[in-house]
Amino acid sequence: MCGIVGYIGWREAAPLLLNGLKRLEYRGYDSAGIALLNGSLLVMKQKGSVSGLEVAAEGLSLDMQSATLGIGHTRWATHGEPSDNNAHPHKNALGDIAVIHNGIIENYSALKQELTAQGLIDKIWKSDQSLDLESATRSALRHVDGAYGICVISSREPDKIVVARKGSPLVIGIGTGEFFIASDAAPLIEHTNKVVYLSDGELAVITREGYTVKTIENIEQEKIITELDFSLEKIEKGGFEHFMLKEIFEQPAVMHDVMRGRVRLEEGRICLGGIEDYLDRLKHAKRIVICACGTSWHAALIGEYLIEEFARIPVEVDYASEFRYRNPIVGVDDVVIVISQSGETADTLAALRTAKEKGALVMGICNVVGSTIARETLCGMYTHAGPEVGVASTKAFTAQVIMLYMLALALSKGRTLSHDEIALNLKELSRIPEKATRILELESQIKDIAERFQGARNALYLGRGYNFPVALEGALKLKEISYIHAEGYPAAEMKHGPIALIDKDMPVIFIATRDSTYAKILSNIEEVRSRKGRVIAIANEGDQEVSRLAEHVIYIPQSSGPITPLLTVIPLQLLAYHIATFRGCNVDRPRNLAKSVTVE
Ligand code: AGP
Repeated sequence: MCGIVGYIGWREAAPLLLNGLKRLEYRGYDSAGIALLNGSLLVMKQKGSVSGLEVAAEGLSLDMQSATLGIGHTRWATHGEPSDNNAHPHKNALGDIAVIHNGIIENYSALKQELTAQGLIDKIWKSDQSLDLESATRSALRHVDGAYGICVISSREPDKIVVARKGSPLVIGIGTGEFFIASDAAPLIEHTNKVVYLSDGELAVITREGYTVKTIENIEQEKIITELDFSLEKIEKGGFEHFMLKEIFEQPAVMHDVMRGRVRLEEGRICLGGIEDYLDRLKHAKRIVICACGTSWHAALIGEYLIEEFARIPVEVDYASEFRYRNPIVGVDDVVIVISQSGETADTLAALRTAKEKGALVMGICNVVGSTIARETLCGMYTHAGPEVGVASTKAFTAQVIMLYMLALALSKGRTLSHDEIALNLKELSRIPEKATRILELESQIKDIAERFQGARNALYLGRGYNFPVALEGALKLKEISYIHAEGYPAAEMKHGPIALIDKDMPVIFIATRDSTYAKILSNIEEVRSRKGRVIAIANEGDQEVSRLAEHVIYIPQSSGPITPLLTVIPLQLLAYHIATFRGCNVDRPRNLAKSVTVE
């Protein structure tokens, strides 16, 4: 995610801003910049790291070195590739206003049309000279849809910083004769432990003497000063023990981010900007091949079920590493979709290039903007899951599945599903973040179960239909962070071999939600129990049948088959996480694994 810092006081601002940006590096970014105000306004920004910016700052003039007011930004690209130009801060044409912004502005393209030459704030300020920086900013924000955390400074009013938030956190640090602004407390903790958290819809004006906070509607707000009592390391993980747990809990918010600007619920419509121009060709593909690795390959399997169910287009899923070497029969009538969180996985990149050489239309679903895979595909969509620091993929997986769900519905439009059917499925999708939040509230129950199974040497994950790929994903989560051997299978496959493994030491995790194969799953559970296997089941709330059969049941909210994976995977993520922590494993950096496998 992007990071914001600001300073106004009596010390040299540049080193404080640069150090503050370093404290925010854990959020992930691909470019950085600062703006300094001392009479005139200077913006220094570039693609790359904060340390690169520090080198550039060595060339600051004496004037700018002694500037005691400034703002800084680390940008995680969501729209527009990482580049010097796309880095923040941005200046207006006159160069006397500088702005930094976090969040996703949904109507950015509309605003951009109107304001390419001038900033929004500048345009409004020019149109009414009676305004000041605060009121011009307030008025500009009324034109903005979406999430923002914004900082504005101007040489026209050189002794203040105006900040505002809606959906993207901002915190004010209170020093002695100096004030700090940041996206979270990490850059503040070494200067002060007194902070004020801005709430959504609030705008603050900060000077060396103090600050005022009002709503966007200009109503004065009384704010409580909070005393911070946690360490820097805790802040970077948002108070969670590990990045992986933080990212598991980020999923409801990420689900909103993936859908933001794409799901138009009131119109029952989906807008997938990145593939709009290719939708026709995608809809008329003879076949769709999805290539990926690891967790992304599991998302691909769910994509197969979704696209075939909703759009009735034949889909094949291939491990990228197999696809690239087997001289696949792929041509101009085919579409190849590559899925990659990092956008740098070597096998997936090679599969992409093989498909392109053979004339197929290649589309990407990536999380990292401007990544190699994203740049080499003909079209594609970003998952907007934010940086995923934990090696074990969690929020990126659910974001990929939502992308595939929306793609499958978009491909069905005008062909297989009616407008009302699409609208119904979108409604179902819009309820998922709230249901996911309810599942996350079961963490302590899941932790108790994890404690009982931390000593397991093997585990079996079984599911049917949409939950078969989830069984694979649950097994991968467990094995990669706890080092317990785990396998996922279609539940019906048990009788073709794996049932020989069942004994009193074998935990078997069943995904037993109520869908078309529910009765079959119940008999599979019976088969395991009759061989003394230990059954953990994921079932729908109110299901008494399963509780009669399973040793432990984790109840999740009811949902329709195609959307169930977004819910059933969450308990499995938490189960793997807690088993691994009980075993003292390095959850964020498991042995032998890399976050992105950029070599073959
Ligand atoms: C999943 O938890 C693993 N970290 C791994 O399987 C990962 O999904 C795989 O390496 C693919 O990575 P990508 O999505 O960045 O291409």
